[in-house]
Amino acid sequence: MVYIRNLADHEDQEVTLKGWIYNFRSSKNLYFLELRDGSGLCQCVVAKDGVSEESWEAAESLRQESSVVITGTVVEDERSVGGYELQVSKLEVLQVAEDYPITPKEHGVDFLMENRHLWLRSQRQWAAMRVRNAIIYAIHTFYQERGFVQMDAPIFTGNAAEGTTNLFETEYFDDQAYLTQSGQLYGEAMAMAHGLIYTFGPTFRAEKSKTRRHLTEFWMIEPEMAFYDLVMNMNLAENFIKFVIKSVLDRCEKELEILERDTTKLEKTVSEEFPRISYTEAVETLRSDEMAAMLDQMVDDRKQEKKELREEREEIKKERGQAKKWRKAQIDQRIKDIGARIDQIEEDLRNIPDWRESALNFEWGEDFGGSDETLLTMQYDTPILVHRFPAEIKAFYMKRDPEDEKLALAVDMLAPEGYGEIIGGSEREADLETLKERLHEHDLPEDVFQWYLDLRQYGSVPHSGFGLGLERTVAWLCGLDHVRETIPFPRMMGRLTP
Ligand code: 4AD
Ligand code: MG
Repeated sequence: MVYIRNLADHEDQEVTLKGWIYNFRSSKNLYFLELRDGSGLCQCVVAKDGVSEESWEAAESLRQESSVVITGTVVEDERSVGGYELQVSKLEVLQVAEDYPITPKEHGVDFLMENRHLWLRSQRQWAAMRVRNAIIYAIHTFYQERGFVQMDAPIFTGNAAEGTTNLFETEYFDDQAYLTQSGQLYGEAMAMAHGLIYTFGPTFRAEKSKTRRHLTEFWMIEPEMAFYDLVMNMNLAENFIKFVIKSVLDRCEKELEILERDTTKLEKTVSEEFPRISYTEAVETLRSDEMAAMLDQMVDDRKQEKKELREEREEIKKERGQAKKWRKAQIDQRIKDIGARIDQIEEDLRNIPDWRESALNFEWGEDFGGSDETLLTMQYDTPILVHRFPAEIKAFYMKRDPEDEKLALAVDMLAPEGYGEIIGGSEREADLETLKERLHEHDLPEDVFQWYLDLRQYGSVPHSGFGLGLERTVAWLCGLDHVRETIPFPRMMGRLTP
């Protein structure tokens, strides 16, 4: 079988493609079909005098998303999507599709989410899923090449890993189980068996927050390394992210273009060192006069940009009356883009006072909110690593800083461009008695953690690890506004179907 992505290997040959009609238009004795076969898009031209009467009738019956088998000759065509065109000799319809709900016009998000099972066929969604796939491939490649063993943690668990406030509970015969929040504790056991491991699986959090960064079911990659300290952990995290981005930039040029992703900052991420700052320095940054000045400047810049965009819009609107058809289409697109940008600016202008308020009044000991993370990364093009958080706001298993007991040897990686925390990790507490104390401090029952405590009884070693959220990474690399478009069937508060 020939796929559209391989058409270059079949130039001037006759091939048969199987797929769906993505779009079509006709002029007198011609049909221009945009065929989608999962691997790409290809324009297929049906000429009335080039096909049998049967094939012509088939073409006349077509509707969006009808399934077809098309035979024709592959010819190079610069203007065509993908660079090749099919001159059709035979067209067979497998099924004429009913009225397809997702038409080329704009649809609201709720409607698209209700039709997620169909929305997946649209080009942008297609591209995002391809990037997700490339990220997954790069993740496995990175760890496999470095001798890590991929091991699976259970989904049903008897104990909490990341606090007890956001657990999904479920019946487990006569018992009660929780859906896993993280594979980490099991990862630690695996690392004591294999040295270097990573888990890659679904994780669940009953988080009642409807933000663009939260899913209730998301995929996490969790490397765990025996004999690694915090610095080695941070080095691995940085090299890992650089590798994944480089790999996606190399393999997904077309997809990123479909997504209209500006890749200049991603390219810098590959080559530049990620800044590392302590939590305490981050708090000072948020509370600083420079931060206040930067936000005031941001307000001025946004207002100026809005003014210029409005002027441009007035100008091109005047031009539109006399413009040629192609130019009109161009102008309409630009007007739409300007409208979207102005909406964004207005939202920013509404938000900045709150961001400013929250940053300037930030108290040491609080956890960063979404806007604090955005502000902290604003002056950088690459992600930043924030380390040594107040132990109070972090999980029980984290090792304390020997130089300051108030601090946990934790690290978060914050992505630039407002994407926030993508990685959370730490060095782990390796001492049995200390770990027992921590369990008590966190009101966690010792019995269900007995197996975990065992790891500190039989050859305990320093060790570290971290977790990368796959969907937030996809959102960042694709430049998507919301994690709902980063996973085939998102699960969020208020969304369990389709
Ligand atoms: O920071 P978190 O909670 O860390 C852990 O679970 C550790 N046990 C990981 C480890 O050390 N092995 O979560 C890790 C990452 C976050 O940085 C974020 O990218 C993602 O998981 N994440 C979410 N992604 C989507 N929706 C949610 N509700 C998420 N919660 C966390
Ligand atoms: Mg975290």
